[in-house]
Amino acid sequence: MSTPYSGKMELHIPEPLLTTLQEIGNIAGENAYLVGGSVRDLLLERENLDIDIVVVGDGIQLAKEMHRVWKGKIQVHHQFGTASVTPENPDKPKVDFVTARCETYNKSGTLPKVVPGSITDDLHRRDFTINALAMQIDTSNFGTIIDKVSGIGDLRSRTIQVLHDKSYTDDPTRIFRAIRYACRYSFNIAESDCNLINDAIPYLSDISGERIRNEIDRVLLEPNAPKILNELAKFGILSVISPHWKIPPSFPEDFQLAQKAISWSSQSLENDSICSNMILWMTLFGRHEKQGIPTYIIEYLCFRLVLEHKLVKFFGDSKHRPSTFSSKELTKIQITNVGIDLSENVLLEHHNGKWCIIDYEKKKTIVYEEGIMYKIRSPFTTLQCLYSVLDSLNATITSSEIYRILKPYPLEALVLSISDPNISKIQYDNINEFLLTLRFIQPIISGNDLIEWGEKPGKNFESILKTIFSEQLDGNIRSKSEAYSYFKQKTDIG
Ligand code: CTP
Repeated sequence: MSTPYSGKMELHIPEPLLTTLQEIGNIAGENAYLVGGSVRDLLLERENLDIDIVVVGDGIQLAKEMHRVWKGKIQVHHQFGTASVTPENPDKPKVDFVTARCETYNKSGTLPKVVPGSITDDLHRRDFTINALAMQIDTSNFGTIIDKVSGIGDLRSRTIQVLHDKSYTDDPTRIFRAIRYACRYSFNIAESDCNLINDAIPYLSDISGERIRNEIDRVLLEPNAPKILNELAKFGILSVISPHWKIPPSFPEDFQLAQKAISWSSQSLENDSICSNMILWMTLFGRHEKQGIPTYIIEYLCFRLVLEHKLVKFFGDSKHRPSTFSSKELTKIQITNVGIDLSENVLLEHHNGKWCIIDYEKKKTIVYEEGIMYKIRSPFTTLQCLYSVLDSLNATITSSEIYRILKPYPLEALVLSISDPNISKIQYDNINEFLLTLRFIQPIISGNDLIEWGEKPGKNFESILKTIFSEQLDGNIRSKSEAYSYFKQKTDIG
């Protein structure tokens, strides 16, 4: 490590950041500092839209004072001692205020115990030396950098390193962060840190699904996400989450496809709320079944990482709950006792308060909770299914068939497929017709019309309505009266 630094540096602080910081400094004096990534990126001369201010004293109070000056919106989170102010003037940046704190970790992977602290405490609680920097913003010291841990030296030598040996085990999400920063800035992870990371990897299994997902979400927002994910895989980080989680070889190409799909949908489907995060994850799981991750592993990952999914009950009820049931002691025998035949090649994991049963032999993942078994249903598995039906979109297909085939798929899967340069012109035209026209068509008649026409409410309603809607989609029925004639013709024959 090089020597700690404290002093003024030649910094170019662009407007409107400069004025914003001066305004905060004028009110807070020596108690407020610009910190963390904001300082790191100023020194690296990179744009950073997150403005983090640490306040020695009361962060929320200062946020309220700045809100009085700037107007606009304020969001206060009392439990974290934080507040964000979005000034009324749209040219001014949003600013996050936080009370300076001292953190101690009792157990790896849990959130730390937090008490108010000094600026030095606050810098010492941070992940990497390059993020443990603060800049004074009061009038007399404006621009003075406080560097207690040689962060500037590490920025110069392009090194990622933690402040102490327990940092990765205290908070294993820092493993993701180290690799993300190293790839983002083309920095090296210090050799000592590579060893610490390897030692801390097993602790990742204690981290909640949400926290891991949050880290991967952040990776997926980086322009070089494929490189970062490959590094994560090389370190064995993905296989701790699931031994079958591999990065599909087509991911770098698919990631470009995802960018294209996101921008296509923002232009062509501006009235739909398309989840770009789902598009990115879908490509991470792979477009084609052969190269991508098997469906039952995607289902497991959606459950484990709390990606969108539903649990669909398919067996049992709480009466089947074994009398000795204890969620901590569940064994394969207990599951077998409730009527489930388990092969040897089964992994049981306890997540999100339930048991996940991954049967590698039968290629099935199910969730078990107190006598009830569930299937996992997730929109994230649909991309591979969609690719397996694209061949049925041929030159002679009718509009109603296109509708029937594509309707079950989420828009995210459809926009990915339409952005794929490898699909045929006919497939493109059919998906386009569905996305831009067919899916908006409303059925010309309803169940009430059938009752009016003398039909008794019953099971056949659904099939009559479906047939009439298909004829409508194919252009054979254009009005209610045409629907009625069609209906009469069919029922008379019947
Ligand atoms: N931090 C930390 N440990 C973590 C997460 C965050 O010490 N697990 C600290 C770091 O000092 C970081 C700051 O909190 O600089 C803010 O966190 P975040 O917004 O995630 O990081 P940025 O540095 O702003 O990174 P990015 O540029 O990726 O947004």
